[in-house]
Parts: sequence; C-alpha cells; structure tokens
Amino acid sequence: MALRHFLTLTDLSSHELTQVIKRAIILKSEHKRGNIYEPLKNRVLALIFEKSSTRTRVSFESGMAQFGGSSLFLSPRDTQLGRGEPIEDSAKVLSRMVDAITIRTFEHSKLALFAEHSAVPVINALTDDFHPCQLLADMQTYQEHRGSISGKKVVWIGDGNNMCNSFINAAKLLNFELVISSPLGYDPSEALLNANAKHAHIIRNPTKAVKNADLVVTDVWASMGQEEEQNKRINDFKDYQVNPELMSYTNSDSLFMHCLPAHRGEEISEDMLEHPSSVVWDEAENRLHSQKALLEFLLCNA
Ligand code: CP
Ligand code: NVA
Repeated sequence: MALRHFLTLTDLSSHELTQVIKRAIILKSEHKRGNIYEPLKNRVLALIFEKSSTRTRVSFESGMAQFGGSSLFLSPRDTQLGRGEPIEDSAKVLSRMVDAITIRTFEHSKLALFAEHSAVPVINALTDDFHPCQLLADMQTYQEHRGSISGKKVVWIGDGNNMCNSFINAAKLLNFELVISSPLGYDPSEALLNANAKHAHIIRNPTKAVKNADLVVTDVWASMGQEEEQNKRINDFKDYQVNPELMSYTNSDSLFMHCLPAHRGEEISEDMLEHPSSVVWDEAENRLHSQKALLEFLLCNA
C-alpha cells in the first residue's frame, strides 16, 4: 500500500472506516482474552504533543506496547521543533528514524505541512479543526452497543469545534443524519457543512434538535487554546447543557457520548456521565482498540 496519512476521517473510504471499526472490535476481544498479537515488533511510533492529553497519549503508548513495538513521547519543550526548527526539516529527519508519527497541535495546516514532508504515516491526534481518532472510538462504541449507525439520527449539542467537524465527516462516511445544535456564532466549518448538507444541518434549539435522537454528543464549551474565552462561553452556551431532561426528548434507546475531559455543571449536568444512556467509559476505552486497528491498517498493509 502507498504511504497513507490519517489527518482527517476522510483519509479513509467508507469501506476502510467500516473495516477499521470491525477490526477494532476483534482486537478488543482478542486483547481481553489475553491473546498476544505483536504485528509491530521493533516498530517505533513518535508522539509530538503541543497540547495536553491523557487518553490519546496513553492509548497510543499502550497500543504500541501491546503490539510489541515502542513509542517516543516528544514534548516541544524538549525538542528542537519547540525552538523553531522548521516543520519540514523535523518531518524529514524524524521520519527517517521512526515508523509512524502522531501529532497533537493547534493549526491543522501545521499537521498537513508535516505530513507533506514525512516519509512515514502521520496521524492526527487532534488539531484545532479535527479530532478523527476520537471518531474511530465513538463509531466503534455505537456499533458495539446498537449495531450499524447508518440511517440513525445523531445530535451534536454545543460548540461547533474540532469534534463537531469530525462528526460531519463521519456522517458522510457512515451515512447518518447529524443535527448540530450550537449557539449563533459557534457553528462548525461553513465549508464543511455546505459540502455535507445532505448529512448535516443546524437546529439552534436543543430541545427541538434532540427529538428522536439515537445518539447525543457534546464536548467542552472552551477547547484547548480557548481558555481566555471561558467566561464569555459559559454565558453564551448556558442553554446548551446535556442533562437527563434533555435526554428525555430522545429515543428511548438513545446513547450519550462525550470525548472527555468533561466539565460537570457546564456542558453536562453533574449526573450525566452516569446516566443510563451514557457510554462514555466504553468510548474512552475504545480509543485504545480503535487506534490499534488504525496502526495495523497504516503500518501492516504495506
Ligand atoms: N478525548 C481526548 O482526546 O482526550 P485527551 O485530551 O485526554 O487525549
Ligand atoms: N474540543 C476539545 C477536545 C478535547 C479532547 C479540545 O480541543 O480541547
């Protein structure tokens, strides 16, 4: 297979995405049975993280260890990248030494530039615009609990952020309806929305939006890098909390997801993570299994 990157979900075809999700479910059950599977023995994954992370970092590092490989966590504080070495040079050098590179950064264009100059697969571990690895886990989780998401109604409540943009891509690839309920001024990418008008549309009123929802998803009101807007956002988003009352308007077998970390009392009520519809802990665990499936897809199909 030619060199493949995973910068957005649309770097996979619908078929490939479905296969990666299926494979994640198999890898999860094999892992739980204690079966050792080491397809990445002697392979190395570099992780360049310019923003904080718990789930993404730990799931990639654990996944590489379980696959018999190893990982290198590179904080910009300790590398020349953080001292201004050009992205192009860093990409050329690092990709001569490791087998894949995972990057969490601010501007999506920085990730794209790195990938352009990398000789090995580059994986988006979150940018300001997209968080495709999270969608792998979310789609795996829906599949495990309710089967195919095709034709279902998914409702995004809150900020039209990197997660919301990635849900638009997922709606297109997996053929579901995405209703976005965001306050005015906080819509997702207009270009992305226009390009996917068949699958995604906006309904401002959250109560109306969640009617007959099969899945409700939210995320923090202020993402990493927007900390100084926190107070303004708390006010602008006050009508956009996911809580048991809002969930009562959804379908009786609806699910609730949140990529975490969550701010209880803001985008969710105190009790929402433990609500009967919540699958957030499975969702978090599935970061491990779905990213192992992604690494296998990118590195073992060559
Ligand atoms: N959901 C997610 O990406 O979590 P982290 O920021 O902890 O990696
Ligand atoms: N939208 C959040 C997701 C965190 C996993 C952020 O970018 O901070």
